[in-house]
Amino acid sequence: MTIAIALTKGRLEKASIAMLKKEGYGVEALKEKGRTLVFEDTQKDIRYFLVKPNDCITYVQHGVADIGIVGKDTLMEGSDDYYELLDLNIGKCRFILGGLKGHNPFDKLGHITIGTKYPNVAKAYFMEKGREIECIKIDGSVELAPLLGLCDGIVDIMETGDTLRENGLVVFDTLCELSARVIVNKASLKLKQTAVCAVLEDLQRGSEAC
Ligand code: PRP
Repeated sequence: MTIAIALTKGRLEKASIAMLKKEGYGVEALKEKGRTLVFEDTQKDIRYFLVKPNDCITYVQHGVADIGIVGKDTLMEGSDDYYELLDLNIGKCRFILGGLKGHNPFDKLGHITIGTKYPNVAKAYFMEKGREIECIKIDGSVELAPLLGLCDGIVDIMETGDTLRENGLVVFDTLCELSARVIVNKASLKLKQTAVCAVLEDLQRGSEAC
């Protein structure tokens, strides 16, 4: 029974492929992928594909992928019609509230504008603190937004902190810690239980070694 695994392109790509390789999965082709999008490990009967973070959830929810490896940041922002079953302990980073030194958005009276790729996360965080905000959705290089005066602050992921530092921005608060998670299609867990659980056990072992 073939198991389809959706891997997330970009930030998590290298670490998740490395973990699969360490656990004996045939992911060699994924490292020299060129423009190819789907890869087969015929020995283990697994099909892999590399997709953008939000698409990883979409493929799993629709059952095209049985298993997905994706960041908790993406899961917190998106819909949740899947099982989140494992923390892989890779791709560790955090959600932060950042901005220009001396300009903490919470100190502002009145209207707060936040630039972010994660408007749902940002709104929920400020709501919990009793403040309503306006979110401006930004798709990349979020640090640019407060620098150019587009917003009062940003809610974004921070890994090393280099991007913030190099642009003269500071952290005002940490919302939560983040890492790569394993999600599973609800029907796949019932219908392909043995094969899915075998992969989960391997990944669990991999995550414990991290
Ligand atoms: C993320 C995030 C920050 C940066 C933080 O962007 O939005 O810009 O990484 O990482 P650091 O703390 O290690 O500097 P990403 O690299 O995913 O690219 P993007 O700006 O195109 O979204």
